[in-house]
Amino acid sequence: MRRPMVAGNWKMHGSRAVNQGLLEELQSRVSEAWPIDVAVCPPFVYLTEVMRQLEGDLIAVGAQNVSAEAPGAFTGEVAAAMLADIGCTLVIVGHSERRRLYGEDDTLVARKFVAAQTAGLTPILCVGETLEERDAGQTEGVVARQLDAVLRTSGAKALGKAILAYEPVWAIGTGRNATPAQAQAVHQFLRSRISAQDAKIAAQLRILYGGSVKAANAAELFANPDVDGGLIGGASLNADEFQRICAAAAAPAVAGARR
Ligand code: PGA
Repeated sequence: MRRPMVAGNWKMHGSRAVNQGLLEELQSRVSEAWPIDVAVCPPFVYLTEVMRQLEGDLIAVGAQNVSAEAPGAFTGEVAAAMLADIGCTLVIVGHSERRRLYGEDDTLVARKFVAAQTAGLTPILCVGETLEERDAGQTEGVVARQLDAVLRTSGAKALGKAILAYEPVWAIGTGRNATPAQAQAVHQFLRSRISAQDAKIAAQLRILYGGSVKAANAAELFANPDVDGGLIGGASLNADEFQRICAAAAAPAVAGARR
């Protein structure tokens, strides 16, 4: 049985006042009874303050990015050890905005994955194809290439302490989510690819879907057997939406629909 997870990726949004209000609302709404993990990933500068506000709470805190390097002369970068030092437990690696806008390639993402795990953080590894790649029938080839870079460097066992997120680039921030069938097909493909190397790890691995998840479509996406929750961008900035997405993730788990 995989415990669903809903993680909010705030991207470059927020302010001290806005974060505080959002978290207060979330703290009063996220139910302890839900058999799911909930996390928020604020910008670096707010991590400590967000963690302080969430101290003792069920909501975990993650970063959105991390350096692949050990501490040293890397101006503007943040080392995994520093994130661990402040009590951060999760970190997103390989988000498509990092790949596309900041030139992060598969090799760098694989190194970031290693850096995160070495520091004791749980990486949320993002993979996903662009619209051109999907239209060209390359979806499986692209996500396989992105996944394989990590499998080659870290091995399938390393996914035992990681979370995978399928985020089709064309669905991120566009309001156009993958259909439940499209999401399930890619999630199943990813799981079976890992299963070929380690069936046990593959069966336990949580694969989140990300890309225009909203309260209105969360339930049908999460109802798929290989969709174990979501990585939520825009909708995670609204407490009511985010809470309803969490409730949707909790529902199939409660109903025992998940394996
Ligand atoms: P979105 O973003 O929910 O706003 O589409 C998802 C993500 O980029 O993680």
